[in-house]
Amino acid sequence: MGALVVIDHPLIHHKLTILRDKHTGAKEFRELTEELATLLAFEATRDLPIVAVDVETPLVRTRGHMIEPAKIAVVPILRAGLGMEPGITRLMPMARVGHVGIFREPDSLSPVTYYAKLPPDLADREVIVLDPMLATGGSAAECIRLLKDKGAIRLTLVCLLAAPEGVARVHGDHPDVRIVTAALDDRLNDHGYIVPGLGDAGDRLFGTR
Ligand code: PRP
Ligand code: URA
Repeated sequence: MGALVVIDHPLIHHKLTILRDKHTGAKEFRELTEELATLLAFEATRDLPIVAVDVETPLVRTRGHMIEPAKIAVVPILRAGLGMEPGITRLMPMARVGHVGIFREPDSLSPVTYYAKLPPDLADREVIVLDPMLATGGSAAECIRLLKDKGAIRLTLVCLLAAPEGVARVHGDHPDVRIVTAALDDRLNDHGYIVPGLGDAGDRLFGTR
């Protein structure tokens, strides 16, 4: 079974609770989504390769460590993953950003891929996939399959909320992929929404309902 990391931290509990609140408006929802993505990035990037470098402080020359610049790709799943992307790239401006567009077909909930634009050298990069909602897991599993087809080898999926069904689906299809999430919720409802959840992340981010 693949690795699942559920981050237990007061800042994350606090911000996620405001995000879940149905009274939270689009402006605050966007800000919180970015902030949570930044906090999750701390765990998602734990195993990034670093290289030793020399640095001169105002006092002496010493040895430091830096992330290898050409080693990261961030891939938000459109639409809602776009809400997380600034929170990650602000922290790691050296990351290349790919985009994959996927929506759930409303009746079957099957993923439909409509767009993909990716950096060419995925095999050399740590690939961080962003989607706030891991519900049935169909969208994330399909995105990861597409990324592996394009060469990706090392992948981490970062989400805000995960349902047990989604975790099982992603790890069933891709046991090598580590999932980092702010919370593991109870279940899916009959329409494939995460319960207790936060509703439709894309609509709340972009004000489309
Ligand atoms: C939402 C969400 C995920 C997907 C999760 O996208 O942003 O991508 O559903 O559900 P799943 O785990 O069951 O596949 P949606 O289909 O609403 O598209 P949108 O982001 O374009 O609104
Ligand atoms: N997509 C969402 O935006 N929310 C859910 O609860 C499930 C899928």
